[in-house]
Amino acid sequence: MSNYHTGFGNHFASEAVAGALPVGRNSPQVPTFGLYAEQFSSTAFTAPRAHNRRSWLYRLRPMAEHAPYEPLARFEVLASAPFTDPVSPNRLRWDPLPPAEGDWLEGLITYGGNGDVGTGSGVAVHLYAASRSMGRRVFQNSDGELLIVPQQGALHITTELGRMDVPPGHIALIPRGLRFSVALEGPSRGYVCENYGAPFQLPDLGPIGSNGLANPRDFETPVAWFEDVEGEHEIVQKFQGALWRTALDHSPFDVVAWHGNSAPYRYDLARFNTVGTISFDHPDPSIFTVLTSPSEIPGTANCDFVIFPPRWMVAEDTFRPPWFHRNVMSEFMGLVRGAYDAKEGGGFEPGGASLHNQMNGHGPDAETHRRASGAELKPVKLDDTLAFMFESRWVIRPTRAAMELPELQGDYDDCWQGFEKARLPE
Ligand SMILES: [Fe+2]
Repeated sequence: MSNYHTGFGNHFASEAVAGALPVGRNSPQVPTFGLYAEQFSSTAFTAPRAHNRRSWLYRLRPMAEHAPYEPLARFEVLASAPFTDPVSPNRLRWDPLPPAEGDWLEGLITYGGNGDVGTGSGVAVHLYAASRSMGRRVFQNSDGELLIVPQQGALHITTELGRMDVPPGHIALIPRGLRFSVALEGPSRGYVCENYGAPFQLPDLGPIGSNGLANPRDFETPVAWFEDVEGEHEIVQKFQGALWRTALDHSPFDVVAWHGNSAPYRYDLARFNTVGTISFDHPDPSIFTVLTSPSEIPGTANCDFVIFPPRWMVAEDTFRPPWFHRNVMSEFMGLVRGAYDAKEGGGFEPGGASLHNQMNGHGPDAETHRRASGAELKPVKLDDTLAFMFESRWVIRPTRAAMELPELQGDYDDCWQGFEKARLPE
């Protein structure tokens, strides 16, 4: 059981040994116990204060002490932007990945993405299926922060700043460049959004007011935790899309104290304060935004993380499921549990995924449309459901590996067949 600070982006202060955290300064001539002071910057030094994120770490040995990295020619299905495989306008859907042997890092398969790691824009979407813990293998992703959405199996994530328990229904965020290792309880599966762009932040609330959607205090950041362990640890780093490895003769999880506002966090999606209509129609799904990574165009996200949680449907004279639409934004969807209310006809299973790219029509399948059009509009609780979307301003280009998966459904378009033509008056 891990311990947490609460609050989104707060300036936390944490020490695993009393007196380890310097008081009143960041870099004393000799920190307590001879610890090494190290700054961890997630934004440019000169980023505006409201967006500036950095932490100070006090550790047994400096992170700089390691042998040169060597290329690691493995994990060939873990891909990075720019993505160059062919892209079609077609809507895509995948069945869940089957159980797979290997650890969390080995289990990552890149489904697609956009942008460019070199210039820090866009996202990559990965799915994972794994069976064992990473042990003394430690991952550092220098290309972007990682938003992890477990679908099956709790993750126990050890980071340089502390430990987090992340069961399905929670999300975890690992800042760019922070070292971490994932332990599993058994067969595990889930989704990862690798964000090359601006760090995820809470969306503005506009007329909703000062409360609602994801409330800041529900985000949980681990308290300082360290281990003083000698012996070989493998460090795997993704840097500009390529994987590299080096070995340490000690655990990198040796940060005894830290303070600052760049830190990992977890969030229980059940705490999302879902807002919707109490009259008619339903608002755009942006009302379900948990986190957003802004781009330089206001309101046009590099990536939004959006969920479709349990909620009441009460709208009068309204087609209640998601409407037919085409979107300038591109949408990658996953399902943590239950059924998604636009796909009552089946085919979108927990652990599955779908991709609806820019300006290509989608929405309820024919079965959902038929049922919702004839449904009695009494209050209905949508329960046991948790779908989500990584939505990006740029087209999400699928990888060849994803297009060659046997889980790719060849008949997805069929769910939009068989609509009756509207009848005009004679
Ligand atoms: Fe959509």
